[in-house]
Amino acid sequence: MIFRPEKEVNGTCDSVFPVTGSGRSVAEAWAFRMNRLSKFVLIVPTYNERDNIGPLIEALEEEFRKIPYDMNILVMDDNSPDGTAEIVRQAGKNYSNVYLITGEKQGLGAAYIRGMKHAIDGMNADAVMEMDADFSHKPDDVPRLIRALDEGADFVIGSRYVKGGTIPHDWGLLRQAISKWGNIFARYIVGLYKVHDCTAGFRAIRSSIIKRIDLESLGVQGYAFQIALLYKVMASGARVQEIPVEFVDRVKGTTKLGFSDIREFIIHAWWLRFEHSKTFVRFVVVGASGVLVNLGVFTVLINSGLNKFLASPISIELSIISNVLLNNFWTFSARKTKHRFYVKGLKFNVVSLSVLGISYSTFVILNLLLPNLALQIHQVLGIVPAMLANYFLHSYWTFRSSPE
Ligand code: GDD
Ligand code: MN
Repeated sequence: MIFRPEKEVNGTCDSVFPVTGSGRSVAEAWAFRMNRLSKFVLIVPTYNERDNIGPLIEALEEEFRKIPYDMNILVMDDNSPDGTAEIVRQAGKNYSNVYLITGEKQGLGAAYIRGMKHAIDGMNADAVMEMDADFSHKPDDVPRLIRALDEGADFVIGSRYVKGGTIPHDWGLLRQAISKWGNIFARYIVGLYKVHDCTAGFRAIRSSIIKRIDLESLGVQGYAFQIALLYKVMASGARVQEIPVEFVDRVKGTTKLGFSDIREFIIHAWWLRFEHSKTFVRFVVVGASGVLVNLGVFTVLINSGLNKFLASPISIELSIISNVLLNNFWTFSARKTKHRFYVKGLKFNVVSLSVLGISYSTFVILNLLLPNLALQIHQVLGIVPAMLANYFLHSYWTFRSSPE
């Protein structure tokens, strides 16, 4: 049973964004057609969702009537103190396709990992879905995600950041910033730049794609799971497709996104970058050598009696020169850039000047704000923002690869 391509399910074809990854040969397409999906398990993690989970199950059951598949709901409840599980058990009496697994609270990612393993190994699902319990993801978008999967994608994302997708207009600046920066990190630090909403928790995924990776080894507990999973499936060659969705603010209950989730997310994003990028590893090694040059020269200069406000920019400048040479002839040596040498040279200088500016102003500001701290600490802290600016400017501008 399939959705017929000409039959529209809530939305038009041009609201569907292209599938990334390699195209499919005719033979592959046939093999794929033979291997249809039939059983879906929609995984809903819950922590204190007493007021949402009952109505959500009702709304989903209503939606399932329009979907020609064996649809199931698996609620992963982490022993919510508010009695969420009891409501799911009650719903399970009315609907035979509602399942519940309870456990210790270890985080959103840990709940999804357990849920996906059970859905695939224990329930034999052909595909799984991720969905929040708080109605942020609209139940009537479920058929659109499933349809995109049915039409050939391996990993479908209900996306807020493609044309037609939205975030709540009354989201505070902080909430917006967390979401936007999460995606900036995922796209430009992890390298998932083909995807616009990498952190979305509304997804439909073929089990065959999840079987290619080892869920246990993702090494995440919290919300970082979203980028960890996306990164691994893309590395394994999955076809990812984004479908625009309207993300609705929750009405009942509160968000569970905490500081430890944000910290894990940032660390994990850098870890993924580090793991897959030789260029980045070299860049870090060069950066570390630059720190040594900077601090070494700075210490020698102030010990020989030079004024600290002069010693600082001189040592920054010397470390920039050593970094630029090493980066040009080692880190980025393999990159074919489209620019002639003098354009690259000019860009070098612009980047170096801004790096000098950022680093030096951090040094001056810290000197004024925290006069009791050792001068070397001011000098080192100046390197941190400068290093980030430096990497991105060089990577995406000076040494940007030219398209093949
Ligand atoms: N079992 C379990 N354990 N469930 C959890 C946990 C946990 O530790 N933490 C959160 N949940 C459940 C919530 O009960 C809810 O159903 C869902 O996971 C999402 O949690 P929210 O607290 O509503 O998250 P959010 O709205 O801040 O975050 C949403 O947007 C993020 C991107 O901006 C989610 O869709 C995230 O998945 C997404 O990354
Ligand atoms: Mn939410």
